[in-house]
Amino acid sequence: MNAPLTSKLLAPQAAMVEFSLDGRTVSAGADETIWTVAKREGTTIPHLCHKEGLTPAGNCRACVVEVEGERALAASCCRNVAAGMKVQTQSPRAASARKMVVELLVSDAGATTDTYTKASELSQWAEQLAVPRGRLPQRDAPHYAAADPSHPAIAVNLDACIQCTRCLRACRDEQGNDVIGLAFRGAHAQITFDAGATLGESSCVACGECVQACPTGALMPARGAGLLEVTKQVDSVCPYCGVGCQLTWNVGPNAQGEERIHFVTGRDGPANHGRLCVKGRYGFDYIHNPRRLTTPLIRREGVAKDPADIERLKQGQLKPTDIFRTATWDEAMELAAGGLARLRDEALAAGLRGNDIPLAGFGSAKGSNEEAYLFQKLVRQGFRTNNVDHCTRLCHASSVAALLEGIGSGAVSNPVEDVAHADLIFLIGANPAVNHPVAASWIKNAVDRGARLVICDPRHTALTRRATWHLQFRPDTDVALLNGLLHVIVAEGLVDEAFVAARVNGYEALKASVAEATPERMSEICGIDAQTIRDVARAYATSKGSMILWGMGVSQHVHGTDNARGLIALAMLTGQIGRVGTGLHPLRGQNNVQGASDAGLIPMMLPNYQRVINPTVRQAFERLWATPEPLDATPGLTVVEIMHAASEGRIRGIYVEGENPAMSDPDLSHARRALAGLEHLVVQDIFLTETAMLADVVLPASAHAEKWGSYTNTDRLIQIGRPALDPPELAMQDLWIIERVGRRLGLAWNYWRDEDGGGKRASQAAVARVYEEMRVSMPPLAGVPWSRLVKADAVMTPAASEDDPGAAVVFIDRFPTADGRATVVPTVFRPGAEQIDAEYPFVLTTGRVLEHWHTGAMTRHASMLDAIAPEALVSLHPADALTVGVRDGQAVLMSTRHGAVQARVRVSTEVQPGQVFLPFAFWEAAANKLTGDALDDVAKIPGFKVTAAKLSVIA
Ligand code: SF4
Ligand code: SF4
Ligand code: FES
Repeated sequence: MNAPLTSKLLAPQAAMVEFSLDGRTVSAGADETIWTVAKREGTTIPHLCHKEGLTPAGNCRACVVEVEGERALAASCCRNVAAGMKVQTQSPRAASARKMVVELLVSDAGATTDTYTKASELSQWAEQLAVPRGRLPQRDAPHYAAADPSHPAIAVNLDACIQCTRCLRACRDEQGNDVIGLAFRGAHAQITFDAGATLGESSCVACGECVQACPTGALMPARGAGLLEVTKQVDSVCPYCGVGCQLTWNVGPNAQGEERIHFVTGRDGPANHGRLCVKGRYGFDYIHNPRRLTTPLIRREGVAKDPADIERLKQGQLKPTDIFRTATWDEAMELAAGGLARLRDEALAAGLRGNDIPLAGFGSAKGSNEEAYLFQKLVRQGFRTNNVDHCTRLCHASSVAALLEGIGSGAVSNPVEDVAHADLIFLIGANPAVNHPVAASWIKNAVDRGARLVICDPRHTALTRRATWHLQFRPDTDVALLNGLLHVIVAEGLVDEAFVAARVNGYEALKASVAEATPERMSEICGIDAQTIRDVARAYATSKGSMILWGMGVSQHVHGTDNARGLIALAMLTGQIGRVGTGLHPLRGQNNVQGASDAGLIPMMLPNYQRVINPTVRQAFERLWATPEPLDATPGLTVVEIMHAASEGRIRGIYVEGENPAMSDPDLSHARRALAGLEHLVVQDIFLTETAMLADVVLPASAHAEKWGSYTNTDRLIQIGRPALDPPELAMQDLWIIERVGRRLGLAWNYWRDEDGGGKRASQAAVARVYEEMRVSMPPLAGVPWSRLVKADAVMTPAASEDDPGAAVVFIDRFPTADGRATVVPTVFRPGAEQIDAEYPFVLTTGRVLEHWHTGAMTRHASMLDAIAPEALVSLHPADALTVGVRDGQAVLMSTRHGAVQARVRVSTEVQPGQVFLPFAFWEAAANKLTGDALDDVAKIPGFKVTAAKLSVIA
């Protein structure tokens, strides 16, 4: 199906009516169509232009029925039921009209009906209705070029088009992309992209909603995927962003008889209702990429670790076999775990404890909850230190720190889809059209039905044109802007006094701290005029429901915690939390960054954010894990601190599971040198990542579509991922690898048992064992045993008991703090570490592009995604392009105080004058060579979003 209409979700309960359906009295809502009620009653009426979830169009007439007393037949897909109505769906007149419509369409289409897909709905109806073929002539060939092979992911063959406009409605009404139109009239009617562009040239973002909607194969996944044999369909969840879209892998043999995912379809999950974006729909074939790691690798004796080898390997000057040799699993595990055990034992023998143990582990926010849980347990129990972290440190650590401090929970208050109920959406430092595209579609739908959108972002993004206000403030001045808004709320009496009195601590201190932050003063810092600050503050405070969503544009700053504190204060002072359609939502980046953090993959907290410094907490885990030794009480080092410790020789061995710090860390030259300087680096991954290139041992692991696991999305929704295929050749299940390393470190673990197989094939039982242990220590999962999760596919957490549906909205009447109240924390604007000057006059911001995810480890290996977006482009304002003397497409050298990269320029008004943007997924122009490693004091997150830079043209 496609998504349910937002208007439908929001419609008030309609009155019930009774009417006669094929002679039976039926009760239904007055807002329901005859088609919908008939289907519910067991009668499916033929239909072509209609698809559940799309706005009814009523243009094909394949669904007509007879209504007593009416001269013309009625289109059941767009005709509502009414009290006393008498409907005959199977009358000879209606049945014959439907058959004729289908015959006309199928005759028109001729052979094209089955040319592009094995699942043409038109063919299926023709067969079901026993429509004669060949009785009527085929229509003339279209007057336009029907075949359009211009798009790498979508095949267009409009000779099979029946102008049903499903694609148009899916594109316009659901995804809000407005790319597809219907041009001309009558026999000349034609589906068009933009104003007649090819699909490849058009503004299409390749969400594929049109492909999912098309009933004839006129729009299909490229490369003939619609004609391939599908032997199984596996329901799972998308491996990329935190939205957590449910999908189905369609699997079958390729020409060589090997099992392959042929294409992906969206499923009706709670977070996506059938919608997907380009990554979820077309980014699946990385798992079949010939560069997959298929055997354990060991660094050849005498081959030194040289960071420069990364570029040489990438550019083909070196081959992986020049650096590594293949090994058996036994040999590789002996070396991997043996090296870790040696460093641990030497340190313990020397009396070292806690952070002085020279070992660390980087887990992954892309892996499952069970992998995250077992990995942090491995480090804490096996390495005997809390030096375990993951990329949350690099994305939302500051948000989580501020949320835990302010409201006692790092989780969102409401799901993204709640924007459907908001009157005002306050989107700051987030570009969901790129990073969370399906979430962006809910925002677009909300604005289309009347919600006001405030966008606070120095950049112009795809959602900007829908914004009521775009506050294009100066980079790095968030604190000033937010304090200006808070000042207005206090000064103009817009504070919800009753809410503050009942539920908020620290108000008087905050009030005093913003007393001088007048809009005029803050305007001088942030560049937004005082009146706009006033208007937005008033609108936010007085709307019936204001929902704040933020992204890494807020968190990835050296004052990221202060930024998030300001947002929390906005919600607390105005009581905009604890109801449907209002609240706080930090948009989580990776698919399981929420779950990995929940599971304890952070250095200062055990699972469920229980602090390692708390002896009662430690004792509970010592009992649960039956640890012979006490757990360490010192908070571990964070990602960037680990890199510093490595460069100083205090960390000598690291186990990296599914992360790529040699691309994702700030100041890459330093990070790569630190990794290369390690005595022992073990990397577990599916590709030879930049980090793996510096490893001593590389362990080939399983991709998302090859394993069982649970994943927690940005909404706190825990969902199940299922295996569609086995890992290739000698690659193994991640959980099995972690467990086997643990056993070799001397841990008496028994999660993966003999009956679960040898570690190659996915084992649901082994994963369930880890999950059930994790659940014991995590009260939000109390009501979600593995069996419920597998049956339900998705459960909202927290869920206290098995019959608890889970809480979509939390903090309704108290916050999970000691006194049940929130605390607002004053902030003061401070200039960040990176300041522009005459030498470095540009502010560089790094981020993502739609088609690529994070460091590109997966998406750069996904053939269609890499074909759509094959290179890093520096976005530069036209005025700056003139100053620098560079044309669109010309190469520049971009330098900062930390490094330099080369890339071509994209001249664009997306950035302001003085600002440049570079995505960080491309090794060819690794953006983090440019960023610095100055950290937020509280959360230790680097300030990725602001780096002073200069550009020079490459002749
Ligand atoms: S391309 Fe497909 S969905 Fe679009 S109008 Fe034609 S048949 Fe309908
Ligand atoms: S929005 Fe996110 S979860 Fe959904 S398909 Fe796209 S990348 Fe996957
Ligand atoms: S399905 Fe009802 S008019 Fe097309």
